[in-house]
Amino acid sequence: MGVVVIGAGVAGLVAAVVLARRGIDTLVLEAASRARVESRPRAGLLGPAAVDALERNGLADGLRAEGAPHHNCEFRHRRRAFVVEYARHAGGHHHVVYPQQKLVADLVAAYLAAGGVIEFGVTDVMLDALTSDHPAVSFVTADGQRQTVESRFIAGCDGHHGVSRGSIPEGALRHIRQRDSAWAWLAVLAAVTPSTDKIIYGVSPRGFAGHMLRDHRTSRFYLQVEATADAADWPAERIWEELHARLAVDADWQLAEGPLLEPPNVITMDSVFYEPMRFGRLILAGDAARRVPPAAAKGAGLAIVDGETLALAVAAALHDADERPLNAYSEVCLGRAWLAQEASTKLLQLVNVELADPFARRLQDVRLDRLRTSPVAAAEFADHYLSPR
Ligand code: APR
Repeated sequence: MGVVVIGAGVAGLVAAVVLARRGIDTLVLEAASRARVESRPRAGLLGPAAVDALERNGLADGLRAEGAPHHNCEFRHRRRAFVVEYARHAGGHHHVVYPQQKLVADLVAAYLAAGGVIEFGVTDVMLDALTSDHPAVSFVTADGQRQTVESRFIAGCDGHHGVSRGSIPEGALRHIRQRDSAWAWLAVLAAVTPSTDKIIYGVSPRGFAGHMLRDHRTSRFYLQVEATADAADWPAERIWEELHARLAVDADWQLAEGPLLEPPNVITMDSVFYEPMRFGRLILAGDAARRVPPAAAKGAGLAIVDGETLALAVAAALHDADERPLNAYSEVCLGRAWLAQEASTKLLQLVNVELADPFARRLQDVRLDRLRTSPVAAAEFADHYLSPR
């Protein structure tokens, strides 16, 4: 076997398609069922680097047909709305909104069409001999058979809680962690047509509220809550009441309500990077190598570009015995990821302030006023918001 890819998220699937299309024997191992990965609601906003990577690899048909291009976003502050035309400040670069589970379904289809093999529903995945020329993965198939596969490389694309990174000996990777944040976001997914055609970042004395878009029947909302908040304290009525209050604007605008599609969950804002993204013949990609906050929606895009970079580096090693791209892999991916982290940090500093701190609130007022009135501030925002490009 050429490569065993662990995890059929966007990182693993992009890597797998690119490898399989280059004639490299590839096996994807995924813990969940196919139905689950193709329906699990995740992110939705993709930046230019991710869209370009998908286009380059002929993986953007669904996104082009059904994705919605986004060139601007809206802020609400002191009950006043203003729009930042960020694409105009960034040479026309923009986002596309396309639900991640649809992209996963497109990628599964493309990988199978390229002759790739996926085992869904595997359990007890174990990695071995990572520093040898023939690392091995053993797993139990959905029908209970234990199998062991030797390969030339293993791609660890199994997300933040996967087994790949955990198979690397203690101390081999640096853990670079952000200090704890006082804030978290309560993430809410509702079956309701978005009440807006652009993302809204609402800043209010009660805290931040975000109105994000998924598709014409589904909306994602975020509410700033204390890091210690318990989602069980947030029944639907409280969520809607708070969204109405925090998104309120002096204009003719109504927030439409709908049933929640999943229990709300508290997403902490802590970030962590594991460096380098490689140990011997195991190469990490996407969330397996880091966790960035949902602000600025960078996680899915980074995972996609990691997947492509990993596959091209492994293909060069296997086809041309050229290990230079593989040796540069971690640095290339980390450069992009830290840029994205900086963008998330900036956005969080703009929208999530300590509510009981009048000093911080006054600075927030100034930052938002500058964003509204200064083309330089808008261009700076655009550069971060669309990074990495
Ligand atoms: N064995 C096999 N598969 C596993 C295991 C395991 N032990 N553990 C996890 N997985 C699978 C998960 O079921 C999931 O399908 O690995 C996959 C990892 O996919 P993602 O979590 O989507 O990770 P990634 O591809 O890196 O994309 C992450 O997507 O939604 C965005 O912002 C989010 O940053 C995140 C990005």
